[in-house]
Amino acid sequence: MKIKQEPPTLKIFGSFITRVYDLNEVRFEKFNSSHAQPMTEVQALNKIVTTVVTTLFPNFVYDCHMWNPDQYLKFSSHRDRPFFDLITQIPKTLEPKRIADLGCGTGHLTATLLEKFKTAQVIGVDSSEQMLEQANQHRQARLEFIKADLQIWQPEDKIDLIVSNAALQWVNDHPALMPRLVGLLEPNGVLAIQMPANFDAPSHTLLHQLILEYKNHLPETLLEPRHSHNAAWYVQKFSQLGLHVHAWETTYMQVLQGVNPILEWVKGTALRPVLTALEPSLQPEFLEKYQEKLIKAYPEQSFGTLFPFKRLFVIAQI
Ligand SMILES: C[S@@+](CC[C@H](N)C(=O)[O-])C[C@H]1O[C@@H](n2cnc3c(N)ncnc32)[C@H](O)[C@@H]1O
Repeated sequence: MKIKQEPPTLKIFGSFITRVYDLNEVRFEKFNSSHAQPMTEVQALNKIVTTVVTTLFPNFVYDCHMWNPDQYLKFSSHRDRPFFDLITQIPKTLEPKRIADLGCGTGHLTATLLEKFKTAQVIGVDSSEQMLEQANQHRQARLEFIKADLQIWQPEDKIDLIVSNAALQWVNDHPALMPRLVGLLEPNGVLAIQMPANFDAPSHTLLHQLILEYKNHLPETLLEPRHSHNAAWYVQKFSQLGLHVHAWETTYMQVLQGVNPILEWVKGTALRPVLTALEPSLQPEFLEKYQEKLIKAYPEQSFGTLFPFKRLFVIAQI
């Protein structure tokens, strides 16, 4: 492991972690691949603390992304619509008893499922304290919320309908995740997923350019460009698992109002992990540079700022 200056405390932690990783046959050096810059002490300490906590307490959810519900809800009319476009496509014949909303966020959309499925018990799952604090305001007899990491979450009982809106793009390893989610379904169960499919849009590519410019100040996990599998991949994956699949993509021609609306939008999503990781003294110049690029890519027009947004929808039934 390359650390610029290794204080004694880090050495002790480092050797402990090396042992933990050796036990799992995973080399600690994987944190610091050859093309990356050596970690700073702060990055190394952050990595070490995360690793210790998640190794010793696998059920502990480390919320490194710090969601901000108010920022996220600023554009709720634009963000909510795909949820309803997804839900209307769930087969009418399905009468779910148990529903799970994965990555339920503030729970305001989860709560609408009670109206549509009048006898179902609904559970919202999320890893963010901040989001769940708001979600719990919707709690009632048929609706509860729990804190869990979707990467490992395992319900006690099987589920008839899994819904996930704008969340699974934050969860790694879809080749493993999707079969695991299918395994949580009852016979005839349905998986209804919506995710952004806009990782090649300027809002993402320009952010990635800047991330690379600041790579010495950011964790290696943020340096890879974000990407998703395409629609065909999900159709193949679920079909191979024996499910009936209906998938489509929609580009929403969103018109946003206000000053620098795209920056405000991205602050609620893709920019969060970056700002959480970037030391505060660098944040103003980072934001200024990003804003300049966004204004050129998405100029304000007489009617507002056009922000085309492509999304992927998948409904898969056992
Ligand atoms: C963009 S928000 C969407 C919230 C909600 N589904 C909606 O449409 O309003 C994504 C949510 O996924 C949650 N999330 C991301 N990764 C997660 C994980 N590994 N486990 C649980 N929740 C996660 C975040 O905490 C956040 O609340």
